[in-house]
Amino acid sequence: MKSRGKTGAGIITGWSSMGLPAVFLLCIFFFFLGFFGSSLFSQQVENESASLHITRPRPRMLNQNEYDPMPQGDSGDDYFTTIPFQILSWKPRALYFPGFATEQQCNGIIKMAKVKLAPSTLALRKGETAENTKDIRTSSGMFVSSYEDKTGILDQIEKKIERATMIPRRHGEAFNVLRYDLGQKYNSHYDAFNPTEYGPQKSQRIASFLLYLSDVEEGGETMFPFENGENADSNYDFRKCIGLKIKPRKGDGLLFYSLYPNGTIDPTSLHGSCPVIKGQKWVATKWLRNEEDFD
Ligand SMILES: *[C@@H]1O[C@H](CO)[C@@H](O)[C@H](O)[C@H]1NC(C)=O
Repeated sequence: MKSRGKTGAGIITGWSSMGLPAVFLLCIFFFFLGFFGSSLFSQQVENESASLHITRPRPRMLNQNEYDPMPQGDSGDDYFTTIPFQILSWKPRALYFPGFATEQQCNGIIKMAKVKLAPSTLALRKGETAENTKDIRTSSGMFVSSYEDKTGILDQIEKKIERATMIPRRHGEAFNVLRYDLGQKYNSHYDAFNPTEYGPQKSQRIASFLLYLSDVEEGGETMFPFENGENADSNYDFRKCIGLKIKPRKGDGLLFYSLYPNGTIDPTSLHGSCPVIKGQKWVATKWLRNEEDFD
């Protein structure tokens, strides 16, 4: 006989009559309810704060659609442009653009480049010859300008680079499309030309935009060995793949500035291409200059 006074025992009897598996399932049900419920909620908050901080400084505006474009100038747009980017580094000023080009655009550029590939060359300094510098840059490449490209892909890419950088497209050199096979690389170097090494320059390269046209299974990163002043004091071996490394991803863009705003060369813009360990690397580079007319 059960005693009526012992309520505690009564509860235990109640639970046990449901059977242990049923209690267990109930516990699991509530666990997942709480788990997914809370992650759903926090995701919503994250999305809202992301749009807050990146697209609009004003806290009330959560949706860009609530904004109407400003009356624009004759040369301006009557719409908003959204090009996502990540600041990879301030020293040098380097930006990463995920999904800058589509897969079809990348494939199209590779296709037009394949037929004209030749071993890449270097701008030579005093005392340098093609022979004694042949190990510095081992890729194959070609130059192609947007007006030569009948498919219109390079025109689209060039326009987007122009918008992302606000450096008018006439400041850009032709695209340099490069292929790096197994073991091929480009030792660390500057894209800007130091007049004390290369002689007086008619114009200077301000910035470089790299568009990765392929994924690389292993290796092939773009490296900035002096990022944030690292390794700059040591006796850096220009072949060494160290510092900030960016793994190529098909369709992604990388922009970095070789010059400070005052026009002098940023020493941390030193960069190179690590050797490809597995796979193949395709990249299209556009150098942007401070003048429209250049050699
Ligand atoms: C140019 O700017 C850099 C970075 O702000 C600064 O370190 C350098 O001293 C400046 N050079 C000249 C010549 O003004």
